[in-house]
Amino acid sequence: MNAQPTSSLDRAPQVNVSSYIRGTGMSVPDRVIPNSYFESYLETNDQWIRERTGIIERRWAEPTMSMSDLALPACERAIASAGLTAADIDGIVVATVTPDYVFPSTACVLQKKLGIRGSLAFDVNAVCSGFVYALVTAEGLVRSGAATNMLVVGADMFSRLIDPNDRTTAILFGDGAGAMVLSAAGESNTAPTGGPRVPVIGSPRTTRGIYGSQLHADGSHGDLLCVPGGTAAPVTPESLRDNKHYLTMNGREIFKLAVRGLAEVSDSLLKRHGMEVGDVDHYISHQANARILTAVAKQLGLPVEKLALNVEKYGNTSAARVPLLLAECVSTGRVQQGDLVLISAFGAGLTWGAVLVRM
Ligand SMILES: CC(C)(COP(=O)(O)OP(=O)(O)OC[C@H]1O[C@@H](n2cnc3c(N)ncnc32)[C@H](O)[C@@H]1OP(=O)(O)O)[C@@H](O)C(=O)NCCC(=O)NCCS
Repeated sequence: MNAQPTSSLDRAPQVNVSSYIRGTGMSVPDRVIPNSYFESYLETNDQWIRERTGIIERRWAEPTMSMSDLALPACERAIASAGLTAADIDGIVVATVTPDYVFPSTACVLQKKLGIRGSLAFDVNAVCSGFVYALVTAEGLVRSGAATNMLVVGADMFSRLIDPNDRTTAILFGDGAGAMVLSAAGESNTAPTGGPRVPVIGSPRTTRGIYGSQLHADGSHGDLLCVPGGTAAPVTPESLRDNKHYLTMNGREIFKLAVRGLAEVSDSLLKRHGMEVGDVDHYISHQANARILTAVAKQLGLPVEKLALNVEKYGNTSAARVPLLLAECVSTGRVQQGDLVLISAFGAGLTWGAVLVRM
């Protein structure tokens, strides 16, 4: 006699998996900037920053450090934790809006620093959602057979973009990098033959890998969070003089749209896979403000103990936020192999998205 289904995971359809998270790593600069730093020259205070954002401190890189300098240790740690060497990596995608150069891409710079040649390498720009966009792109490349071990990096240095004299933004952002190795799953882990890989079909209770994803964007709200400096708004001596080259943000609007976007995309992705929020072991979401995350958890009906948080230590590190948090949770043992993780992110563009993965 068949056992009665006991949870939505027993009723959920089988999953179709082409890749799994094989290793993770993170790196942050040494220099700690506590809230008291801003008290010394801005009209703000530690209590306001803690209560309104949840942030206690963030890391800022020294001016001599480049994005790739900061990201390299995260990449090396991810590759080592995957049990691989750099020579095994055949694809690199870096999510960043603070690259070393306009071009070449930071992915190409990192490829050189890792001592690899020939692998595909490129950057993506989806700001704070960048890592989720990069992960979905990497998943597609592995599924198509174009790569077997993708290095997926989220790295940003927003200390270079903020106006240090704007108390509404200067306090929010930090620098950091996170990386992950995404490898071909199971039997499909063979050399590409020129065609798509054969995916692993398995139980949503036990099969490791990326189950699915959703990505969204709404360019009509691009002005809510923006950094000028491109062909539409070139940096000129006048714009520099008037501090018009810094990041600008409508925090209150972004706050509302972030709560709605994160809650909707998370709920929709779970439903698409026949799952419920109770099936999720950990919610790893973009960390911009602790109040955004508690509001999202409330809307989803997610118990707070499933909500991973480290915004208090690093602030908003943009594209690095999700992989930095995931790598830290793996290294502390909070996230274990076999756990179901719901990843989500929201950022300028506007962009947002989610990925459902069993570690
Ligand atoms: C920026 C943010 C922390 C502001 O918090 P808030 O509760 O929305 O605060 P408000 O913008 O409504 O401002 C309230 C008051 O605090 C003031 N204030 C803003 N920053 C301050 C600071 N650092 N210290 C003290 N007061 C501050 C404002 O000037 C305003 O004063 P007023 O009432 O006299 O006009 C919040 O809106 C936020 O986190 N937004 C989302 C940011 C984000 O996610 N960005 C990245 C997206 S990827």
